[in-house]
Amino acid sequence: MLGKLMQNCRKPEGFAGRLILAGMNYGHSNISRWGLSHLHAKKDAHILDIGCGGGANIKRLLAMCPQGYVEGIDYSEQSVAVSRKKNRDDLGKRCNIRQGSVSCLPYKDGAFNVVTAFETVYFWPDIANDFREVRRVLKPDGRFLICNEASDPKDGTWTEKIDGMRIYSGDELIRLLLSSGFAVTGNDTQGKGRLCLIAGKEKEHE
Ligand SMILES: C[S@@+](CC[C@H](N)C(=O)[O-])C[C@H]1O[C@@H](n2cnc3c(N)ncnc32)[C@H](O)[C@@H]1O
Repeated sequence: MLGKLMQNCRKPEGFAGRLILAGMNYGHSNISRWGLSHLHAKKDAHILDIGCGGGANIKRLLAMCPQGYVEGIDYSEQSVAVSRKKNRDDLGKRCNIRQGSVSCLPYKDGAFNVVTAFETVYFWPDIANDFREVRRVLKPDGRFLICNEASDPKDGTWTEKIDGMRIYSGDELIRLLLSSGFAVTGNDTQGKGRLCLIAGKEKEHE
């Protein structure tokens, strides 16, 4: 029963998915605010939040960038529905939320100033290719922010309960980012297991 419920962290579905999404909007607020404190986005930035879950980070990004435009994407139908509800006041004005996978982003090359990924890279199916896909949709001076609460690959607390979840260390993520054509410009691990990485496009790969 609990095991089934936990699968909704990877892909929220149905009523249980809605419960988990409400829980994540609340339970992730601390780590999300900490992660966002590393991002100094322009007020009119065009931002994409991948794996947007319940949409709380889209709302925060809209508040941070009052002249900006924030898009969200998630492969779960339920996440998209809850995110749209959470951001209904801005939806269709300066916010758009779509269903889709990180592996095939439905956006033009160089569309975004900022791409964010909170608590989601654990589930990406082919992380090196998915990072290259993120890179494709970033502007030349764009930034990619990854924020994770878990960073110890040996800790099975979550991975034993959630199928297909993989925890990456900060060093592993940095290696993957470098091999996908990024330069890492910010790295905060705060000594609490949580991590926030900021990466920009490595020019040599243009
Ligand atoms: C643990 S939740 C985090 C949600 C939100 N970012 C937060 O911090 O509260 C992970 C989210 O990533 C989404 N996700 C997982 N794999 C994905 C993929 N391949 N493409 C798009 N979204 C994905 C899930 O559907 C889920 O909504």
